Amino acid sequence: MKQPSSFLQTSFGISLDALKVHSQNRKHSLFRNLQSGKAKLLGKMFLKGILLPSLFLQAASLYSSPSLENWETYRNEMLKVQPDFPGWCPAKKAKDIMDVIVTNHSQVCVELGVFGGSSFFPIAAALAYTQQGIAYAIDPWSNDACLEGYGELDEKLNNYWGTVDLEKVMNKFTSKMHLNDLDSYYSIMRMSSKEANPHFKDNSIDFLHIDGNHSKESALFDVKNWLPKVKTGGIVCFDDAWWDSTQPAIHLLLQECDLIEDLSSSWKQYIFLKKR
Ligand SMILES: C[S@@+](CC[C@H](N)C(=O)[O-])C[C@H]1O[C@@H](n2cnc3c(N)ncnc32)[C@H](O)[C@@H]1O
Repeated sequence: MKQPSSFLQTSFGISLDALKVHSQNRKHSLFRNLQSGKAKLLGKMFLKGILLPSLFLQAASLYSSPSLENWETYRNEMLKVQPDFPGWCPAKKAKDIMDVIVTNHSQVCVELGVFGGSSFFPIAAALAYTQQGIAYAIDPWSNDACLEGYGELDEKLNNYWGTVDLEKVMNKFTSKMHLNDLDSYYSIMRMSSKEANPHFKDNSIDFLHIDGNHSKESALFDVKNWLPKVKTGGIVCFDDAWWDSTQPAIHLLLQECDLIEDLSSSWKQYIFLKKR
């Protein structure tokens, strides 16, 4: 994985300073050869045929290569697009997700509970910037799965999650990802977190966002079974961390992770942790 601070250097194998020295050395040796007419002609051909195209290519790759300098501009542009993706991810959380993925050099990212991609888009967009890695979108997009574990008493929740057209939400998600050129940075796993879990090896995930079914059993299942899949030093983001039903899961997370950011008491409702 490229280090953001050295993107400039490693993306085309030569630094800006090295490029300057390289062309200065070229100029000196060319100057000596240009003393003769033949050398002059050779010099022109060399300049036109090799040096100029190569400098052009170097400059072009410099322009397109990712660097920390360009990161904020890129991220802010992506944050303008993010509200097009339906869901509940506030701008601050989207920014935090993007920053933590880039600074932690995350490559394997997983989101449990994608809905319309509001929080998944920032994950894939960060990977697209580093041009490395893959994000797994895990969601059954099924009304039954959304209602599991809540009981029939929660009328408001039943009304929304029992009737929302999740097929339409998923199709909107995939078409928006495509429009934003993100197809090579993500993979859909249309299944529950329980079904997807055995497909991942222990210690293989760099960034995990838990935002699927928030019933007590499901939230606890997600932490118990997905946390071992996260690498030591990997990042876990947990949404709706203030809900009564998510408290046992949060308790377990805090036993194995260090808290990085706690916005669970505000309307932003999420926490970031680093796995020990
Ligand atoms: C609150 S929404 C996710 C919101 C999204 N992360 C955002 O920030 O906008 C919860 C999602 O979890 C999905 N879901 C429900 N049960 C699930 C399960 N067992 N495994 C994974 N996802 C599940 C639902 O289909 C729904 O899209």
